[in-house]
Amino acid sequence: MVDLETLVSLCKRRGFVFSGSEIYGGLGGFWDYGPLGVELKNNIKRAWWLAMVQARDDVVGLDAAVLMNASVWRASGHAETFNDLMVECLENHHRFRADMLDGASACPECGSSLSAPRPFNTMFKTHVGALEDESARVWLRPETAQGIFVNFQNVQQAMRKKIPFGIAQIGKAFRNEVQTGNFIFRDREFEQMEMEFFVKPGTEDGWHDYWRDQRLAWWQSTFQIGAGRIRIKQIRREATTIIGPDPDDVRPEKPPHYSKGNYDLEYKFPMGWNEIEGIASRTDYDLSSHQRVSGKELAYFDEETQEKYLPYVVEPAMGVERAVLVALFEAYQEEKVRNEKRVVLKFPPALAPLKAAVLPLLRNRPELVAMAKGLAQTLRPHLMTVYDDTAGIGRLYRRQDEIGTLWCVTVDVQSLDDRQVTIRERDTMEQVRVPLAEVKDRLLERLR
Ligand code: GAP
Repeated sequence: MVDLETLVSLCKRRGFVFSGSEIYGGLGGFWDYGPLGVELKNNIKRAWWLAMVQARDDVVGLDAAVLMNASVWRASGHAETFNDLMVECLENHHRFRADMLDGASACPECGSSLSAPRPFNTMFKTHVGALEDESARVWLRPETAQGIFVNFQNVQQAMRKKIPFGIAQIGKAFRNEVQTGNFIFRDREFEQMEMEFFVKPGTEDGWHDYWRDQRLAWWQSTFQIGAGRIRIKQIRREATTIIGPDPDDVRPEKPPHYSKGNYDLEYKFPMGWNEIEGIASRTDYDLSSHQRVSGKELAYFDEETQEKYLPYVVEPAMGVERAVLVALFEAYQEEKVRNEKRVVLKFPPALAPLKAAVLPLLRNRPELVAMAKGLAQTLRPHLMTVYDDTAGIGRLYRRQDEIGTLWCVTVDVQSLDDRQVTIRERDTMEQVRVPLAEVKDRLLERLR
C-alpha cells in the first residue's frame, strides 16, 4: 500500500484536497476539496444514498439544520459527556488526547511532564442573533443524528411509515478535536452519512447484526476493498473483540454514551487499523431523552397490534472523508510500463471523478481540435468529461491515469477522414477504434 505522504502530495498536485486557508498558513483540521475531490466525494455520497435510500422502501431521507436549539444537546448528553480526556505538556503547552498516548507519561514531542488528564468538550460553540450571552449560546452539531431524532415524528407521520423504518441524512458535522491528523482522517469539520433505523424494542439485536452485514458488504463492493483490509470491531461494555484479520491488534474501547454496543468497521490504513464506520445500538436513549426534556410525547402507535412504544434505534454512521481516504488507498497503484513507472488510480467506475478525457493528437490542427472539443461537448451532459491538449499524448495519458479517468478518447489525423476515434481503457491500456457517433453510447454501455 502507498504511504500517506505520497498520497497527500498527489492529492494536492492533482486537485483532490488542499489545506484549508492555505495562503494564511492553514487551519488545523480543516481541508478544502478541489475539482477532483468534490467529484469523488459526490460519487461516494451518491453510492451511499443509492444503497441506503433509493434502493429501499424502508428508508427515507432528511436534510436538517446544522444549528439546533441548545436543549437538543443537553437532552442528547453531548453537552455533558461529549468530552475527550486531554493532557497538556507543562513545557510547550501542546495538548494531546490521553487515550492516544498509550499510557505514556511524558510529552511525545519534548519529553517533559504532562498535566493530569482533564475532560475537554469537543463541541464548537457559537451564538444566534445579536446577543452573545449564555441565552443565545448554541453548538455546531457534532453528529447529524440528532436532527433525525427530533424529526422522528414529523417524518413518520408525513410519510406514514411503519416500524421498522429508517431516516437517512448526509451533512456536515463539527468537532473541536484535541488532536487532528493523518491528513483528512481526523478533522474538525467533516461530513457524516448517518441513518437511524427505528425498530420495535426486543428486535434490535437482530437488526444490529443485519446492518453490520449490510454495511460491511457496501464497503467491500463500493470500494472493492482487498481481502484482509477491513474488519469488524465489536465493542461491548464488558469486552472489545475483533471479527476478522489481526484479532490481537486491538485497542479496547467502551461504547459511546448513547450506545449499548457498537460494531465498528475498521480499515487497515498504513498507520494501522482505524474506524471508518460505527454501527451503534442506541436503544431508546435519544427518543426518551428528547421526550423527557421537551415534554412532547414521541411514542409510536402500532395500528396493527394496538401497541404504543418508544422505538429502539440501530444506527450505521460513517464519515465521507474517511471513505475518500479508503477510495484513494484502494485505488492507488504503481506499475512498470515499458520500463517506466505508471501511477494509476484504479477507482471503481462509479467512484472515478472523471469518466472520460478527450485528447487531440495534434493541438495545432484546428480541424482536429474542433472535432475533439465537439466530442467532449457531446459527452458532457452524460459523463464527467474533460478536454485537454496541453501536452503530448504520452504525458496526457499519464496525467489521466494518475487521477483515475476511466477512458481517454483520442482524435487523430485519420479521424478527419474515417470519422473514427480511439478509446483507451485506463486499467488494461487497451485501445479500440470506434465510430465518432458511437462513442457516447459505447462509454455509457461500459459504465453500466
Ligand atoms: N452518530 C454517531 C456518531 O457520530 P461516531 O463514531 O462519533 O458516531 C461516525 O462518528 C463516523 O463519523 C466515524 O466512523 C467516522 O467515519 C466519522 N468521524 C467521526 N469523527 C470524525 C472526525 N473528527 N474526522 C473525520 N471523520 C470523523
